Amino acid sequence: MSITKHAEWIGMQKASEAVAFTLKEMRNYAHPGMTTKQLDNYGGQILRDLGAKSAPLLTYGFPGWTCISVNNEFCHGIPSDGRILEEGDLVNIDVSAELNDFWSDNGGSFVLGEDINGHQNLIDASKLILHKAIYNIKGGVRISDIGHLIETEAKKNGYKVIKNLTGHGIGKSLHEEPSEIANYRDRFNTTRFKKNSVVAVETFISTISTYAETLNDGWTMVGNKGGFMAQHEHTIVITDGKPIILTETNEIWG
Ligand code: CO
Ligand code: CO
Repeated sequence: MSITKHAEWIGMQKASEAVAFTLKEMRNYAHPGMTTKQLDNYGGQILRDLGAKSAPLLTYGFPGWTCISVNNEFCHGIPSDGRILEEGDLVNIDVSAELNDFWSDNGGSFVLGEDINGHQNLIDASKLILHKAIYNIKGGVRISDIGHLIETEAKKNGYKVIKNLTGHGIGKSLHEEPSEIANYRDRFNTTRFKKNSVVAVETFISTISTYAETLNDGWTMVGNKGGFMAQHEHTIVITDGKPIILTETNEIWG
């Protein structure tokens, strides 16, 4: 969406604060021995208390309040009673929601407890790349140039990017125009970022895979070559200068 009225500013700020707070609280609450269903129920209750509704549930009928993906799962992981979190797991939580007709989206990967499996490097690379990408976005910048930046930075760190997962416009629904903010230079995408528009920018940085594939459960995505992936996502407003990061309070950079 493009922000033109004060009420839209307020609406996007409130929705963004809700998803950012939920993500932060879920990350703090996560501990070894709990199931991903328990973690999701905790997040779902926070969203409800804030008056927000789960975006993936509302939009796609997703079987959970938030997406929780663990280790080989890249994204859209279904919260489950059977999935017990363990020390050193690579966990991704993605929280998106609607609040008073405004939609916001954020996510982040982290290591649960001690990094006994050596995932921190991948996570740090993803965080830094998101930071660099976001601070290079302003009105008039080509979306494909930001994709190029993300892929170049990933390669410098010895990583790959997932080509079929992208950031997206957001605001009056979960996924809006521009529909694809890719992590590589898409030569066919000549679209430019527009001042005052709201977009969700997300990294998909992986160890060996370059595509994500959906499992038989119809939701969970894993890598075409396996390995691990880190994702970090902020919803931002584009300006002539530095973007305004609406979900900054999620502290994924903290
Ligand atoms: Co998201
Ligand atoms: Co998103």
